This record gives sequence, C-alpha cells and structure tokens, in this order.
Amino acid sequence: MRIVAIEALQAGMVAAEDFQNLHGVTYLKAGTVLTQRSIQQLLEMGVTQVAVCDADESPATDAPASRQDRLAETRRLAREVICKKLDRLRLEGLVDPVLLEGLLPHVLKKVLDHEEDLVPLTQILEHDEYTFRHSIGVAIYSGFIGRLCHYSQKKLFSLVRGGFLHDIGKIDVPEEILNKPSKLSDEEFRIIQRHPVTGGKRLIAAHGEHALALSRIAFQHHQHIDGTGYPSSGSPGAISRPARIVAIADVYDALTTARSYKVAYKPHIAYRIMKKLSRGQFDERLLDLFFNNLIIFPVGSVLETSAGFAVVKAAPFGSAAKPRICVFANERYQMHEPFEIDLAKSPAVSVSSLLEDISLISLTSRLRFNPAELLEHDYPEKTFPSGKSA
Ligand SMILES: [Fe+2]
Repeated sequence: MRIVAIEALQAGMVAAEDFQNLHGVTYLKAGTVLTQRSIQQLLEMGVTQVAVCDADESPATDAPASRQDRLAETRRLAREVICKKLDRLRLEGLVDPVLLEGLLPHVLKKVLDHEEDLVPLTQILEHDEYTFRHSIGVAIYSGFIGRLCHYSQKKLFSLVRGGFLHDIGKIDVPEEILNKPSKLSDEEFRIIQRHPVTGGKRLIAAHGEHALALSRIAFQHHQHIDGTGYPSSGSPGAISRPARIVAIADVYDALTTARSYKVAYKPHIAYRIMKKLSRGQFDERLLDLFFNNLIIFPVGSVLETSAGFAVVKAAPFGSAAKPRICVFANERYQMHEPFEIDLAKSPAVSVSSLLEDISLISLTSRLRFNPAELLEHDYPEKTFPSGKSA
C-alpha cells in the first residue's frame, strides 16, 4: 500500500482502505477501482491523499461483498441522499415543510425496506451513481406532487416506487454513453432512447402483472402530452397520470442538478425552461401545481417584469409562481411611485428574469436604491387583466 496525493491519483488505481469522512460516512470502499469521476468527487470533498494498492497487492477487504451487504449499502446511501435532499429543500424554504414532514420521508424509506425495490436500486447504484442519485431526486419530487394531488398512502407509495425505478432501463446503457459530456452520436442517442422500453420490460419480467403501473411509468416517462417524445405513442394524451408526474420530476431534478458538463440551474430558470416546453411536453395543470408550490421567487428578490423592475413582497404556497410584487422603476431605469401587483390577478404581466449577482448590484448602484426598503410598507395596487399588457 502507498499513500498518493490527490493530484497524482489516476483512474485505474485501486483504493487500499475504506475512506470515510468526518461523519463516518464511507465514500470509497477498499477495492474500489478509481475513475476520473470518483477522483473529481474526492477533490471536491477536500481530500488531499488516498491510500492505494501496489500493483501486486490485494485491498484490505474481505471476499466480495455478500448480496445482503450490497443491499444494506444501497439502503444506507439512499437514506443519506434522501436526508440531504430533504434538508436542502427545508433549509432553502423551497417547499412547504408540512408536505414533506412525516409522510414523505416515511414513504421514501418504506420503499427502501421493500427488498424487491432495493435489488433494482442496487443494480442502478452499481451501474451509475448519478442515475441512482437522480432517481432519488425524482422519487422525492414525484412524492411531493402526489401529496399536492392528495394521493392516498397507497397511491403515493406506488408513485414514489415509480420515481425510484423510472430509469431502471439505463442499466442496459453503457456508462460511458450515460455520462458522455459531449454531444451524443445518432447511434448513442438511439441506445439511450431504448431505456424506457427495456426498463418497462425489466419491471414486468421481475414482478409480473403486479408491476403494470410501475412498468407504465418507466415506459412512458419520456413520452410527451402531444404524442411526441419516445417511445413513440402516436396517441396524444394517453400517458398515465403517475407517468406525467414523474416526467415533470425527472426534468426538474435533471435541470437543477450539476453535472461535470453543466451547472445546476436555479429553480426560477428551470421554471422558465419547463413552462416553455409545457405546451406539448408536460401536463400543464400538474406543472402549474408543482411550480405554484415551490418558492422560485423568494420574498425580497428583484424581478425584471413587463411592468418594470419589482421586488417580491409575498410568495405564498399555492400561488408561488405568481407572487405579489412591488414595482418601483421602469425598463429605462427611471424610479417612480411604487405600486403593487398581485401576479395571480394580473395575467398580462410577465416575469422575464430574476436579477442576481452582477445585474442586481448594477441595478441598485445605478438607482442608488435598495429595493428591500419597499418590503416594510404597503403601496397602492394596480391590476393588469389579460388583454391589457403591462
Ligand atoms: Fe429517463
């Protein structure tokens, strides 16, 4: 065994010891063959050196992990990822905590006690860790939408299982295609496009007729409402409701997660992208339900709207995508008497962007005004019904 500095690690080296962080969480098991991606993850965690095996040495590990050990490892990692994702959603105040408390974590963890789900999850984890983490995100957002739809415990459990296993067909797609940072060739894209069909078949093969609802989610999650998407359905509107929910959760999680080749989009950017696609791709009512219950425009944030620059005064759950705003300057950067607009009652007013970092600093220094001052008082309200553009 030798200790190698993180900069000198190379793909193909074998970890000689389990690597744990300060909280005792194992990130790297002895015997793991390092990849560029795992080296990058260690670098991002601040690791400076790793013990690796010499060429003729075996790692400090026992015989290959038993089936039970592998399942236990999947359950442990899944629970850790669930807790981290739920904590982040709570900390950011992004979702209504009442919807997440109790039921959702309970349902999520119940799936992990279900051995018939833990086996395919283990296959996903061992094939591609990103798909595993993404599947957990999709299960969480699907459960969240299911709660908003007042699903019963039984339907919620089935929906969350569908979220966890929607991409099971990806275990038939080579890892280098799944994680290719550059554009896919036509042939590679064709291989990726097979995963809903192979996934649906895998679930039926494993669980028989009982898995029809689950299989339909896997089969339909890339089909679009207008009949496009894949595999081709040819019949617009034939997609099951759980599959429509998982389709929204799938794209939202992918857009808001960082990859080696893309940044994580902020929730309001994901909202804009998905609203643009919603006409043909998503179920618009479910999409509105989802985004009206995510705080994408936090109180105090500054928006550029068709009525001018405005600060968000209230964004209640239920109409969070249509917040109450206070407009204080026009598009020519001229300040005026502030007035308020309830975007839920003024469909003619559209939000073009949320100002961040440099653009927000530039606006406040140009106007010599801090929009947060407007949060303390009420101002007269104006309404812009549809037809009267602001
Ligand atoms: Fe997929």
